[in-house]
Amino acid sequence: MPSFIGAIDNGTTSSRFLIFDENGNLVIGHQLEYRQIFPHPGWVEHDPMDILGSVLTCIEGALRKFELQGNDVKNLRGIGITNQRETAVVWDRTTGRPLHNAIVWSDTRTQDVVTRLCESSEKGVDALKDICGLPLTTYFSAVKLRWLLDHSSEVKEAHDNGNMMFGTVDSWLIYNLTGGKEGGVHVTDVTNASRTMLMDIKTLKWSEECLKFFGVNADIMPEIKPSSTHFGKIQHPALDRLQDVPITGCLGDQHAALVGQHCFQVGEAKNTYGTGCFMLFNTGSKITPSNNGLLTTVGYQFEGEPAAYALEGSVAAAGSAVKWLRDNLGVIRTAEEINDLAAHVDSNGGVVFVTAFSGLFAPYWRPDVRGSIVGISQHTTKHHLARATLEATCFQTRAILDAMNADSGLPLKTLRVDGGLSNSDACMQLQSNILGLEVARPLMRESTALGAATAAGVHLGVGIWKGGFKAFAERARESKEVLEIFNPKINAEEREKEYELWQMAIDATMQFKP
Ligand code: G3P
Repeated sequence: MPSFIGAIDNGTTSSRFLIFDENGNLVIGHQLEYRQIFPHPGWVEHDPMDILGSVLTCIEGALRKFELQGNDVKNLRGIGITNQRETAVVWDRTTGRPLHNAIVWSDTRTQDVVTRLCESSEKGVDALKDICGLPLTTYFSAVKLRWLLDHSSEVKEAHDNGNMMFGTVDSWLIYNLTGGKEGGVHVTDVTNASRTMLMDIKTLKWSEECLKFFGVNADIMPEIKPSSTHFGKIQHPALDRLQDVPITGCLGDQHAALVGQHCFQVGEAKNTYGTGCFMLFNTGSKITPSNNGLLTTVGYQFEGEPAAYALEGSVAAAGSAVKWLRDNLGVIRTAEEINDLAAHVDSNGGVVFVTAFSGLFAPYWRPDVRGSIVGISQHTTKHHLARATLEATCFQTRAILDAMNADSGLPLKTLRVDGGLSNSDACMQLQSNILGLEVARPLMRESTALGAATAAGVHLGVGIWKGGFKAFAERARESKEVLEIFNPKINAEEREKEYELWQMAIDATMQFKP
């Protein structure tokens, strides 16, 4: 009997459910965009029920297509979950209902909380960096949780009365899929936990010091597990046909992509171009602190294995900038159109677009700045703007790569890419030009979902995942992956000239304080 593994992927703007066969081939999937809530400038929320609803619809949609192909749902052996990270969800222990909308990772309302917390410690922004690997900024969950405790009496009361549960989106989904208030499990994995600012990245346990710093009670926190283990069994009234199917994999989406791209060796890195863009560089069992504005994070942990760590460079806006061109300016009708527009011109015509809609993340860490478009002339067309939009992510990736090379001391030779924008040939060529590096794009670009399925499959010991993680990782190294390669088409002098223009635009943007 064939075996299949399902992967739930909750991204920032859409959810998906993909089914892989036992050789890791994608069989079928279903995707659904869900509601984005912007109550005020800089605020981004999701209704946790929308997230859950979209996941249930995707599972149902994919299962229907799977059966139409002649497959039997009974052969689905297990499920992996991967998700947008940092987004903070709080819910009532008794009713299982959300106590507030989820505050999304890109939300910047917590600037005042960050300022206050920085002032409370001699180390300022690095108050907890030695413990959790992260600087104090609006990005991470604990800051959002603190804001909720300060601004919602319902949340505060539930927290103080021991009637609240907190989690990132993985915890919220697993809790609901395994029974919700009727005994749903309250768990998370090491990668998601490493994005809260509440986990000690050495012990992989919640840190008392961090909890105290944010004024958070330990009883609201989920249990931390490895990324590949038994998390619980599906017990949801809307998922009749999946009752008792085990959830055996869970990772934050960027960590899942690291696994899905098989970056298991020290010095291997991937860059995922989703709503934001995130480069993760495997540093193995070594925890590498950053002196150049990067994050230290858990890469992944397979059951019975030590954790593998990573350095991360995060870009807040990538695909979201393309969406902005489509939805707010109407410059393009579909996201794919940006490819043709950008390819229509052979330069940006002097236009630089700093896409700091939610501030600037790595390596700049300026949540307070907002975006700018500089260098516009009478000659500027939508083609230049399209090109400058793609270049914005590529230039930020360059800044991150420079920081990564400095922090790791291991200059990267190839950058593996995936995610929505990686489908754009124009964007990947620009990326290679701007980095002066080989960019390698796999033919199968569902790396995030594949990573979650991989973690689930290793625990179950099915198909190519038989024999545990080590055996799988070794085989993955030997396998001839099918990659498309982009090589730089400009020389070093041209590259540095372009990057200089970007740095000038960044400086100008940082100084703009209305
Ligand atoms: O840290 C946020 C990240 O996990 C969001 O990923 O794919 O929705 O851009 P994505």
